[in-house]
Amino acid sequence: MGDHPTPELLPAQPQVERALVEEVANDYQEFAENGWPDPLEDYLAERYRIDVSAEYAGAPIKNPWGKASGQLSMTARQVAEDVQAGLGFVVLKTVIAEDESGGRAMQDWAVQESRMVVEPITGQSGTRGWTVSWKGRGWWGTFDEYLQLIRDAQQIASSEGTLIVPSCKYHLPGIGENGWNEAEYRHTTALLLNAWRSGGDAVSPMPLEKDFSPTLAGSERAAQQKQILQWLQTVPRLIRSGVDEAAQVRVGLKLFNALFDDQFQLDMLRAIHESDQPPDFFIYGNRLFDPEREFEGTRGIAYGGPDLSDRNLRVMSRFAAEQDSMLPWSATGNIHSGKIALEYALRGASSFQLHTFFQLPGSEYTAVVGNKTQKALHELYFHPQQGLIVWLHHLAGVLRLPTKPIRLKDTVGKAGQLVIDEND
Ligand SMILES: Cc1cc2nc3c(=O)[nH]c(=O)nc-3n(C[C@H](O)[C@H](O)[C@H](O)COP(=O)(O)O)c2cc1C
Repeated sequence: MGDHPTPELLPAQPQVERALVEEVANDYQEFAENGWPDPLEDYLAERYRIDVSAEYAGAPIKNPWGKASGQLSMTARQVAEDVQAGLGFVVLKTVIAEDESGGRAMQDWAVQESRMVVEPITGQSGTRGWTVSWKGRGWWGTFDEYLQLIRDAQQIASSEGTLIVPSCKYHLPGIGENGWNEAEYRHTTALLLNAWRSGGDAVSPMPLEKDFSPTLAGSERAAQQKQILQWLQTVPRLIRSGVDEAAQVRVGLKLFNALFDDQFQLDMLRAIHESDQPPDFFIYGNRLFDPEREFEGTRGIAYGGPDLSDRNLRVMSRFAAEQDSMLPWSATGNIHSGKIALEYALRGASSFQLHTFFQLPGSEYTAVVGNKTQKALHELYFHPQQGLIVWLHHLAGVLRLPTKPIRLKDTVGKAGQLVIDEND
């Protein structure tokens, strides 16, 4: 994996006017102590001429920042804090699908293990970052409790325009196994949609993330790869079978980093784009897996940090270069600054979902007021060297974007343009 250079498109420093950097630095300092004006989107438009509205699953969201599925989106209280902080969307913890009798094909994933350790990690490039270690898996409450969480989250979020996204792990056949547990797909999707609608919006399609965590260990490599590609091409149809009209749900596949080379990551991306039944969007790319890494007696755990974003950006650069059009996608993986978020945007991502950066020790954030989500957003937008404001202005300059306002959306998928311009 370390045989390719990091494909960063942005230079070390933003090329912007000094006055802008000073203005941002003043706000950074001021808002760290006193919080910021509400709604922030209006302030950004007025003060910095930037429009941060974005898209998730093809639907409009007020800004591109989301909470990624995990331990930080398991309770109504956590959702309320994120809504208050002003996130564009929140992906709830992954629930394990079940059939009408309560049976769960992926029961092994419903394991309670809440202890997490947030620790520094150094990537192969020498860059330092953070990773969260833990042994747990999916939602360990009952399915009914999860449906209640969806309803509560919808109610909390609806007035503030934060999109709520359920996440689910459904049955996946192993190698040599026959058939799919279609009843589980139908039953689960129908109930998720019902809860999502009764808690808030009864008309819009429900976005849904399908989490994959492969359990094919021990099988031969080629057989594993074939099976994974078949999953990716089958799952969207099965999820849609649970609703009256396919358009009621927007199916997103959360592609994972398999234990293979970059070529196979490209094969997965191609498989969903060439499928007869493609998903509506995808999320890229879930954490790396190190079979040797240990945590509390378990050998082989997932990790993140700089290697994760290096790999994701490298793969998505190659995929974006070979595609004329891509499905909408949401980026995940070591997003800790506005700058790195824009690296993903240039490769086509129209929203950014974070877990680790919302969970750092308090001393890592400059803001002293607000909850952790607010403190993280403060860095993501206002950091004078790494924040979204200065880097959007930088991109507006080098990409010659319209500037009244500068629209985040105009940067999406512009990697090719940037390379051409710089070679002019
Ligand atoms: C403690 C922890 C729990 C997670 N649980 C889930 C999960 O239930 N479902 C899922 O799709 N992703 C899960 N993830 C992956 C995150 O949603 C996210 O995609 C990944 O951590 C990369 O983003 P980050 O680098 O900002 O952490 C989890 C990650 C962590 C660290």
